[in-house]
Amino acid sequence: MKVLFVCLGNICRSPSAACVFRDRAAQQGVLVTAEGAGTGAWHVGQPPDARAMGEAAVRGYNLSAERAQQVTVADFARYDLILAMDRANLKALQAIRPSDAEAELRLFLDFAPDLPLRDVPDPYYEGDFQGVLALIEQGVDGLIDAIRTGAVPGSTGRT
Ligand code: 4NP
Repeated sequence: MKVLFVCLGNICRSPSAACVFRDRAAQQGVLVTAEGAGTGAWHVGQPPDARAMGEAAVRGYNLSAERAQQVTVADFARYDLILAMDRANLKALQAIRPSDAEAELRLFLDFAPDLPLRDVPDPYYEGDFQGVLALIEQGVDGLIDAIRTGAVPGSTGRT
């Protein structure tokens, strides 16, 4: 199961989501690979924002190996599932999605239907990094449950 998490800059939300997903899936014995990407290119090659890394470290996640990349059309053939962290990024992805895309494209918080939110808020400008990470943990847990129960396409056997 190959998952790409997509936000705007790929230095706050999506690298956090990729790392939390990898760690929690591994704890539960679910085979996954995951990366983050941004719809914007401003931070390509950079490590995550220090505030995101710090908040992640408090919760036991190590983001230091993540490097920002921009999402490409080819990603729709490389991944089983592409998850937008908010509706603005979902729109941007829908605009570049090829008609023969293999990847399923969804909103990340579709996997946390009990939350009253659909978007993980952009924390870059004075954001609540702690709250964002809590949302990511909830969404990731829902996503892993969906994979375990076979509710996500591509969730059987592939890594
Ligand atoms: P992210 O946050 O999309 O969660 O990585 C942002 C990071 C950088 C910018 C915007 C959002 N920026 O405009 O540079």
